[in-house]
Amino acid sequence: MNPLNHVAIIMDGNGRWGLKNKNSRNAGHREGLNTVEKIIKETIKNKIKFLTLYAFSTENWKRPKKEIQFLFNLLESFLKDKIEDLNKQKIRLKIIGKKNFSTKLNSLLIKSEKKTFRNKRLQINLALNYGSKTELINAFKELRDNKEKINEKNLNKYLETRNLPDPDFLIRTGNTNRLSNFLLWQLAYSEIFFEKKLWPDFNEKDYNKIIKKYKSIKRNFGNI
Ligand code: IPE
Ligand code: IPE
Ligand code: MG
Repeated sequence: MNPLNHVAIIMDGNGRWGLKNKNSRNAGHREGLNTVEKIIKETIKNKIKFLTLYAFSTENWKRPKKEIQFLFNLLESFLKDKIEDLNKQKIRLKIIGKKNFSTKLNSLLIKSEKKTFRNKRLQINLALNYGSKTELINAFKELRDNKEKINEKNLNKYLETRNLPDPDFLIRTGNTNRLSNFLLWQLAYSEIFFEKKLWPDFNEKDYNKIIKKYKSIKRNFGNI
């Protein structure tokens, strides 16, 4: 059975779910939060140590201002409501991506990270304003500026995911088969599961099915 330490998820399909069920994309984003909570619980149950969730990409700034604002308001109220609870459950929250939001949201994010910094049960990496290409370019610039040798070990030091194992598998919900600039380096050898269901419809059972399937796969890493 394959060991399982790190799950990465592209939580896609909120907009379509919202339009179909409530005639509003934003309603889908709200509904998607319930799935986030379910998946966090199930991740803990499965004793997985790292969960990386793609919540907002560097490309998502192209969306209408109103939708972007709604998403950040949603995140703000989620953190205000839940951070105590996450902390009590010994969950560490880490943001990956550049925090260039409103001063208010930036400081809430920093506060949440600091508060949960010591927690060891599960680390949630929330990818916000994250883009893999930007991450890699920044890492290479660091190597150049510090005159360090270009190799995997040194590069890893400057990635947002430094100190994390690579994801064992990636799930993308929403019936779309692409990576959308997510963890391009880190996913080099991850198993990938494209899931037809939209994120708000995705549930514990679907998640556990994927975990089970992952555990049974023969991972070669180039070997035979
Ligand atoms: C993913 O759902 C959430 C974010 C990108 C914030 P989408 O909003 O992309 O949903 P669809 O793909 O339009 O249905
Ligand atoms: C990827 O979803 C980003 C997140 C889930 C946060 P998108 O819906 O933005 O991806 P594209 O634009 O369809 O590739
Ligand atoms: Mg989408």
